[in-house]
Amino acid sequence: MAVLKIRTNPDPVLRKKSVKVTSIDESVRRLIDNMIETLRESSGVGLAANQVGAPLRIVVIQIPEEELLVLVNPEIVETTGERTVVEGCLSIPGYQAEICRAETVKVKAKGRNGKLIRRKASDLLAQAIQHEVDHLNGVLYIDYLDDMSQLVKTDSGPD
Ligand code: NI
Repeated sequence: MAVLKIRTNPDPVLRKKSVKVTSIDESVRRLIDNMIETLRESSGVGLAANQVGAPLRIVVIQIPEEELLVLVNPEIVETTGERTVVEGCLSIPGYQAEICRAETVKVKAKGRNGKLIRRKASDLLAQAIQHEVDHLNGVLYIDYLDDMSQLVKTDSGPD
């Protein structure tokens, strides 16, 4: 496994709509494993494949103390409610902002082994799923801000 370089805004790959994975073959599994390794080495809870330069619909999410989630071709099929959350992104290091997200989501995807996953999520997991699926569509959380002055600097160090 390898730690991959995380692309940062305004890298154009972050604005590309990622394409569906047609078959979870050896190279896709290798990419997933490298994404997991890269996420573990970072301070984030989720990573989309285009953040490491591969415009494929794959995300990995690791909420502290929870099971690792690999979502291939994820689709948010239902959302409920809304709430204000503080959000950051590994591709926009050193900043965060308050935005509005749905409170719960239902997501449908395939796992690393190709098996169908259906999952209802709330709290941080729901937020992470929405953030990562946005990445696959070329959307960054800053797109929801009216004004870049709403970005707050964090003291997360050299990241
Ligand atoms: Ni992000």
